Amino acid sequence: MNIQKKIDVGLTIQQSAIKADQAHSLKLSGLSLELGGTPILRDISFALPVHGMNILIGPSGAGKSTLLRCLNLLHQSWQGDLHIMDKDVRTWPDGADALRRAVGLIAQKPSLFPCSIAQNVVFGLGRKARKQVSDEHIEQVLRQAALWGEVKDRLHDKALTLSVGQQQRLCIARALALAPKMLLLDEPTASLDPRSKQCIEASLLELAATMPVLCVTHDIEQAKRLGGQIIFMCDGHLIESGDSVDFFARPERIESREFLRWSVCDCS
Ligand SMILES: Nc1ncnc2c1ncn2[C@@H]1O[C@H](COP(=O)(O)OP(=O)(O)OP(=O)(O)O)[C@@H](O)[C@H]1O
Ligand SMILES: [Mg+2]
Repeated sequence: MNIQKKIDVGLTIQQSAIKADQAHSLKLSGLSLELGGTPILRDISFALPVHGMNILIGPSGAGKSTLLRCLNLLHQSWQGDLHIMDKDVRTWPDGADALRRAVGLIAQKPSLFPCSIAQNVVFGLGRKARKQVSDEHIEQVLRQAALWGEVKDRLHDKALTLSVGQQQRLCIARALALAPKMLLLDEPTASLDPRSKQCIEASLLELAATMPVLCVTHDIEQAKRLGGQIIFMCDGHLIESGDSVDFFARPERIESREFLRWSVCDCS
């Protein structure tokens, strides 16, 4: 079977897994994106439940980060249909900035503002809300991001003096300060030591009990620990999605098996 045929069969399998009668926080149908004339994402469809953990995996260059940016409207030139909480994202009430507050995206590379740690935490809040935010709220989100212990005595230091791993956790705290309804995380623990990684995983699992979390990782053991739904992408295609335990025990697609065995995928 050639690769396109295999992909078509796989898409039929994963699309049928989106049950019409099930409540979803996000429904994506037929998303395609070209950048600079090159197809990057190809006819991607999946749904996320109203809460729970969802892990996006796939080889480097598969399109994972690009897909997260589309969900958050950082890329807007895509074709397809995307509803989040039953609302069409293209006509989101109060526009793309309001969508980005509701759907927090923690990017692969931390990007902080040239101000203090505390100011970075509240940066996304409006001016009025920033003045009203309590010290307890700042502490709470820094604790959720497994950073409080390291910064509690230096909240007024410049955020850019933090290590890369600390900056990554500060970005998580900044997203949580906005009380998002959904979280998208792009390799959130890639620069972290094992202890911080474990703390972030525990926080993500706690958050996933109340909201949908979509997390990109290259760490297969982490993907197994976090569980939930797995979405496997390769070369801009969604190859297979489903329950994490089933996926790791019995991947249906040859590309998935190869990826899990070798962590490489030859889709060309
Ligand atoms: N602005 C752009 N213009 C052209 N190509 C782009 C652009 N942004 C991303 N790409 C390409 O799109 C493909 C997917 O990139 P993306 O960053 O989404 O991959 P990824 O799955 O997140 O990879 P990694 O695991 O390495 O982070 C890559 O081939 C990349 O070079
Ligand atoms: Mg990426």
